[in-house]
Order: sequence, then structure tokens, then C-alpha cells
Amino acid sequence: MPQDAKRPDRERMVWRGVVEEYRSFMPVSDRTPVVTLGEGRTPLIYAPELSRLKSAEVYLKYEGGNPTGSFKDRGMTLAISKAAEEGSQTVVCASTGNTSASAAAYAAKAGMTCAVLIPQGYIALGKLAQALIYGAKVMQIKGNFDQALDIVRELGERSGKVTVVNSINPFRIEGQKTGAFEIIDTLGAVPDYHFIPVGNAGNITAYWKGYKEYFKAGISSSLPKMMGFQADGAAPIVLGHIVDHPDTIATAIRIGNPASWDNAVKARDESGGIISSVEDSEILEAYRFLAARESVFCEPASAASVAGLLKTEVKSGSIVVCVLTGHGLKDPDVAISQISVPEAIEATYDAISEELGV
Ligand code: F0G
Repeated sequence: MPQDAKRPDRERMVWRGVVEEYRSFMPVSDRTPVVTLGEGRTPLIYAPELSRLKSAEVYLKYEGGNPTGSFKDRGMTLAISKAAEEGSQTVVCASTGNTSASAAAYAAKAGMTCAVLIPQGYIALGKLAQALIYGAKVMQIKGNFDQALDIVRELGERSGKVTVVNSINPFRIEGQKTGAFEIIDTLGAVPDYHFIPVGNAGNITAYWKGYKEYFKAGISSSLPKMMGFQADGAAPIVLGHIVDHPDTIATAIRIGNPASWDNAVKARDESGGIISSVEDSEILEAYRFLAARESVFCEPASAASVAGLLKTEVKSGSIVVCVLTGHGLKDPDVAISQISVPEAIEATYDAISEELGV
């Protein structure tokens, strides 16, 4: 037995995934086979540079720390567990990438077949690699995410043989709300503002549900303002109409007709928050800032929350949480496009020391 197995607090270090850890808030029973990869308990990182800039206490909820590198795992553990309970053998989703990576992983764990529809040419390389290596049937469509989701909805309704694991599946939202629980559990307080990127609008819906449930249960005594940010070229909620040809460098939120549109608007209005948009240039600026100044590498869509914070006034001294929804390595192409890759140097001490100036 390794030495540290005798540590008295050893047991408390075991994290069983979000379904077990928050079981009393989950629609599960003894008959639900819990399919987990140990998701959740992601870092809540204090951000000194952002805090100074905004005269506030700013934290980053780094969802890149999940098993497949995005927040999707919180909802997928429950969606796949419930699909298993119902005897489903095949799950299907439309995705801008992260949902497909997560669905593929959890379906493989449950021994199910997973089919994913993704928009050809608009999915980050890391996500495509994940869906393929976990063994999903990947179908690239000649269309965008919104068209893929329409087909998936129809598959769910007409075929009767597949379970849809997009966030129109209510279990996804139930699992994802645990992000709010963790923020309150870790901070020992409720943030005054919650900044979040908005694409299909499931996550803002889920966080708001989580905050309200802790409040109703008497665990917390206030609620944050929900501050959602879409990309300028894909901002249907801000514009108030469907965007037929959404476009943004943040491919994860390249969505023109969000499935949870109404619930996002409710979260905004009930919380006294906003849903606004940020330009691609602002997203990239926040993306570089986060890596260089806060040492947190997220994917472009995730940086929309911080891009939003950078241009929004918050009350001095307030507690702010920005959700960083996915890992930076998901989209290596964007990272490399933002820097210049150095030329090769002779493999000698002299060449290196000269280059370093030491
Ligand atoms: N950030 C990342 C990294 C995402 O992958 C997504 C959505 C969002 C933010 C927006 O979250 O849709 O709940 O408003 N990705 C989905 C997908 C659409 O297919 O992976 P949302």
C-alpha cells in the first residue's frame, strides 16, 4: 500500500463525478447506472490581472479541466446514464465539436453506439480528433450546426431508435447546473455577476437553474446577474431574429438559432442581467490576455465571457465569475494563428546562448 494511503483525509479526496456528488439534486434513482468519467470539481482560478482592471474580485471557472476538456461532460454523464437506464443503445447529437467529443467518450464508456453530425470545415481539430478516437460515427454535413440540429431532432422523433443527447435533452441541463453548485461551494458565496458565452444557450439556462436551486434549498441567499455573450456574427438573441449564416472565429458558438433561446432570455430577465455580443477581435484579445496574463489557456468561444467582462462595467468590489467553457488545446489552429512560430536554430550551445542573450 502506498505510504499516503494512510492519510486520514484520503477518503475525502475521492471525487465521484457530478451525479454522485450532487445526487440529491439529480433526477436519478437506485436503478440508474451512473456512467461517469469523474467530471466536475474544475478549478476556480483567482484572476489578479482582471481583478485589478475591473476593481473587482474576478474568478475563472476553468471547464477545460473536465475529462474531455469542456463543460459538456457535466451534462453528458447524466444524459448517458439516463439513456442507459432506459435501455437505449444508440445516442446521436449535432455539434460544433465539444458535445460530440463528450458524447463519444461517455457513449463508449457505456458501450453504446454514438453518431454525431458536425458542420464540415467548422469544427476545431482537437474536437474532431476526439470524436473519432473515442469511436463515434462521425458525419460531416454540408451545412451548419443549426441544420445538423434540425436533422437530429427529426431523427429523435421519427426513428424511435435513438436518444438525442443535445441540450434539448433535459438531463443535459440537469447535469450542467452543477457548475453553479461548485462555484458557490468553492467560493462560500454567490457571485454578483456570472459571465458566460452563449451559443445554443443550454449552459446559461443550466447555470441559472443551478443558482436558483441552491437559493430555493436555502444553501445560498442571493442570485447573480447572468451576463451572456454571443459572437457578433452569430448573435440571434441580441438581434432578436434567427441568423441564417452565422459566422465567427469561435466555431463552438457559431449558431444562428439557439435551441434554448427562450430560457436564455428568461435567465437574463429574471436575474437582471444582459445578453450582448462581442466582436471576433475582442474575443481574440481576451483569449491572448487570458493565456499571457492569467496563464489560463481556453478555446476562443470560452474567451467571449472575458471579452464581455472587459467591456462591461461591474460594481466596484463585486465578485465576478467568468466561465471558461473549454480547453485551449481543442483549437490548436487558432492558437498558432495568433502567434509567430519561431524559426529552427542550429543545435549547438553557442547558437542557443546567443539567441537567449546569456
Ligand atoms: N463554449 C464552448 C467551448 C462550447 O463548445 C459551447 C457550445 C458554448 C460555449 C456555448 O454553450 O451552447 O450551451 O450556449 N458548444 C455546443 C457543441 C453547441 O456542440 O459543442 P451553449
